[in-house]
Amino acid sequence: MNRIAIAIDGPAAAGKSTVAKIVAEKLSYIYIDTGAMYRALTLKALQSSLQLEDEHPLVDLLHFTTIELRQSENGQLVFLDDTDVTAEIRSQKVTNNVSYVAKHPEVRKEMVKRQQVLAEKRGVVMDGRDIGTHVIPDAEIKIFLIATVEERANRRHAENVAKGFSSNLEELKKEIEQRDLIDTKREAAPLIKAEDAIEIDTTALSINDVAEQILAEVSKVMTG
Ligand code: CDP
Ligand code: CDP
Repeated sequence: MNRIAIAIDGPAAAGKSTVAKIVAEKLSYIYIDTGAMYRALTLKALQSSLQLEDEHPLVDLLHFTTIELRQSENGQLVFLDDTDVTAEIRSQKVTNNVSYVAKHPEVRKEMVKRQQVLAEKRGVVMDGRDIGTHVIPDAEIKIFLIATVEERANRRHAENVAKGFSSNLEELKKEIEQRDLIDTKREAAPLIKAEDAIEIDTTALSINDVAEQILAEVSKVMTG
């Protein structure tokens, strides 16, 4: 079989991007972080002081916005209108607001269109919330990663501590729960497991365990 598309969905800090990067590297595929695209738009909307509950100004803004994922020696970089915003889009402010931007149907429509162009040629590992259900519904492999909210908050906390950032475990847990709630309850393409997705509970699994399980699925599909 030729190059395929691998869709990885799941809630915040389930391990999607870490595992997606490993799988993409092993297969020499492109990794596409769709969350980064919603984060970049959120950053621009905040910089432009837009009201995030109003859909039309956000859609208009998106139409005049280029968001690029560029591969570099140091991993994937995110460019917003030709400016590197890789670090800025991970700020707490963007994290706390991104789900309000991502819930608008017309914003999603435009983002999905852009993401489908990126996935057109296959050879991609794409992660997000609606990849298996809306962006690449015909992906050859669909994975849905989950983990308990305690474990996910612990992971983000450990990440912050390792980076030397201040971090409050209880606040992180609340922020993750709030984002999960908005993402799963929204009307447009909510976070939901595609019927044909393979669910992996990563709570007690290492990153490599999860990557191995996905690569085993790839081997099965490839060998037919
Ligand atoms: O990495 P983390 O799980 O914190 O989030 P992300 O993948 O960067 O996504 C940030 C937010 O963007 C999510 O909480 C969703 O609100 C939104 N998102 C989405 O709606 N659809 C996607 N395909 C990807 C992200
Ligand atoms: O992309 P997503 O928000 O789903 O999660 P991530 O950013 O890939 O993972 C969040 C953190 O959990 C990272 O620091 C990973 O190293 C860690 N992780 C883990 O400890 N065990 C796993 N099985 C997967 C991820």
